[in-house]
Amino acid sequence: MIKAIVCVDKNWGIGRDNDLLFCLPTDMKFFRQTTLQKTVVMGGNTLRSFPGGNPLKNRENIVLSRTQVRDDCKIVPTLDGLLEELKARKNEEVFVIGGEQVYKMLLPYCEVILVTKVEADGGATAFFPNLDSHPDFSLECSGKPQEDNGLSFRFTTYKNNRVKRF
Ligand SMILES: NC(=O)c1ccc[n+]([C@@H]2O[C@H](COP(=O)([O-])OP(=O)(O)OC[C@H]3O[C@@H](n4cnc5c(N)ncnc54)[C@H](OP(=O)(O)O)[C@@H]3O)[C@@H](O)[C@H]2O)c1
Repeated sequence: MIKAIVCVDKNWGIGRDNDLLFCLPTDMKFFRQTTLQKTVVMGGNTLRSFPGGNPLKNRENIVLSRTQVRDDCKIVPTLDGLLEELKARKNEEVFVIGGEQVYKMLLPYCEVILVTKVEADGGATAFFPNLDSHPDFSLECSGKPQEDNGLSFRFTTYKNNRVKRF
């Protein structure tokens, strides 16, 4: 099953200057616990945004990139190649972890979207599609508001009611 995991601001913004909008340790912990030992799929810019530009530890990292060459993760140079990798793992739990371009490309294939919603405007230049106004998605659950670093946020889950099959 393919899932996406994302942290958005109140405008569904996800990033700026190839970085995240907020520092939310509780959300980072949730992200880590959810994706550990799983396959994570990302675009080349998201890989560049990680500390040292390195893949995430204790996860299989698959990166969509036309330009990067490295042997510490799986680089896939085309969307078709990436879809083949996902097809080969259709019985596993795979997480799409960003960024804007890769979320947009893979959203139709994602069954579940884990969205951390932050009650703030992060001044984003990169965005996630607005699932509240998307006809294919429904809000399945919404957690209680929590506070972290002076920001109010909640964990929510959306379901794709029209999953695209390979
Ligand atoms: N809030 C969150 O939860 C969250 C999560 C992840 C990322 N982000 C943010 O999202 C932003 C980055 O998003 P983004 O849209 O710029 O980048 P991205 O989706 O991570 O990566 C884009 C890159 O993917 C590769 N690519 C895209 N289409 C391709 C194709 N058809 N074939 C081959 N390669 C292709 C290219 O890589 P190359 O340039 O390497 O060739 C392209 O530059 C950052 O601000 C980041 O912090 C936020």
